[in-house]
Amino acid sequence: MKHLKFKNGDEMPAIGLGTWKSDKGEVGKAVKIAIENGYRHIDCAAVYGNEAEIGEALAEVLKEGKVKREDLWITSKLWNNAHKSEDVIPALKTTLKDLQLDYLDLYLIHWPVAFEPNVAFPEKDEDFLSLEEAPIIETWNKMLEAKEKGLSKHVGVSNFSAKKLEDLLSETKEGPEVDQVELHPYLQQDKLIEFCSKNDIHLTAYSPLGSGDRTADMKAENEPSLLENKTINKIAKKHGASPAQIIINWNTLRGTAVIPKSTNEGRIIENLESTGVKLNEEDLKEIASLDEHFRYVTGEFFVTKGNSYNDIYDEK
Ligand code: A2P
Repeated sequence: MKHLKFKNGDEMPAIGLGTWKSDKGEVGKAVKIAIENGYRHIDCAAVYGNEAEIGEALAEVLKEGKVKREDLWITSKLWNNAHKSEDVIPALKTTLKDLQLDYLDLYLIHWPVAFEPNVAFPEKDEDFLSLEEAPIIETWNKMLEAKEKGLSKHVGVSNFSAKKLEDLLSETKEGPEVDQVELHPYLQQDKLIEFCSKNDIHLTAYSPLGSGDRTADMKAENEPSLLENKTINKIAKKHGASPAQIIINWNTLRGTAVIPKSTNEGRIIENLESTGVKLNEEDLKEIASLDEHFRYVTGEFFVTKGNSYNDIYDEK
């Protein structure tokens, strides 16, 4: 298994288990199956609403001695309603309590979007704080403080464009170590990969399989199915692998981490076994040609009529 190395020598396993959309009652079992089958990287977030169950599962596997805490890489994310300086560390402490851990390996600002502190899911303009009212740099400085306090070994961001990373880097001496973004063959993020590599920022690919289990209100009409893509299926057949394995392997070959979500035992194992696939140059060329700059997670759910979040990815 590949690892992504940090300046202090720590290493993040390239393949992690995603837990967005993993239901309560299933996610704990999925985490245990994953760890028992060799996963050492679990990707979590407060807003997924399942950290307490993941915490139970982690406590069990650690107690059974199947794995040591220092061999696991646990990521979590700060929700948008805790961007204010005074809310960052308390939110991180709640996550630690839920996950039954003393520290995280990686804590990320989940979105470059801020809500009023009492709002979990915004509905109207007043539910949001603009980035002038809740500047990212102030949230970031608290993330650095959390790192200094040992609450998280590493800190980073998620859903940040190159422009937002650049803005943040211009304001801080210590920039994000990771940016976690949507990344897959339909959204290959070449420019962001180049920017991050120049600036010592690792990338983690979320929704690598196209997140077909998003709720209907998060899906565009007629969106393309990545796992049914003809080219991916042709390459999969040639290698005696599954389409998911091809996509996961492609991600790790490009030097990013990748966090496929599954709560199904067979598919959890299958996804880790993608390390055995050997894509050749011709396969990579064919996959490169699939880029459509297509996003499954458009961020439109953060847009209200009068708020300032209609161009989260800085693409308009
Ligand atoms: P399940 O949890 O039932 O396995 P993403 O990681 O892009 O968010 O995609 C998650 C979706 O992909 C879920 O619906 C998940 O279903 C499905 N999935 C995960 N692994 C595989 C696989 N190896 N083959 C097919 N579908 C998969």
